[in-house]
Amino acid sequence: MAKKVGIVMLGAGFMGKAHSNGWMKVSKFFNVPYEPVLKVVAGLEKDVIGQFAECWGYESSTLDWKEAVARDDVDIVCVGTPTNLHKEMVIEAAKTEKRFSTKSLRPCHARKLLKWPML
Ligand SMILES: NC(=O)c1ccc[n+]([C@@H]2O[C@H](COP(=O)([O-])OP(=O)(O)OC[C@H]3O[C@@H](n4cnc5c(N)ncnc54)[C@H](O)[C@@H]3O)[C@@H](O)[C@H]2O)c1
Repeated sequence: MAKKVGIVMLGAGFMGKAHSNGWMKVSKFFNVPYEPVLKVVAGLEKDVIGQFAECWGYESSTLDWKEAVARDDVDIVCVGTPTNLHKEMVIEAAKTEKRFSTKSLRPCHARKLLKWPML
């Protein structure tokens, strides 16, 4: 049975939609031993963030991305915000020992930022 992994989506814009779509469909494209569970989406659009969550199947929504990243039921932080925010968000995810996914910052760069040894 696939292991459930909790996803937090940071950003509820176009990339938030694109990545949510990816999480929903990944097991149709690939034989993965994980089942993504869309736990929470964070964004600044207070009027529509709840609607985004409902439309894409997230269990909840928030305006506070740090609160979302800190949740115990979240395993993977998917960053879909403007690029200048990725560094801070990825570092926060790493501090809470979450996995993260971002296009603008590769794991090797993050390790350098965090001064972690390359494995
Ligand atoms: N749209 C594309 O086709 C595309 C393709 C590749 C890369 N990108 C890059 O992805 C990034 C996002 O693009 P987009 O089109 O989804 O933008 P967008 O403006 O549609 O969405 C950005 C989202 O980030 C959220 N956000 C902004 N500041 C935040 C903060 N401080 N805390 C929490 N959430 C915050 C906004 O509320 C919004 O939901 C951009 O940097 C863009 O260059 C976009």
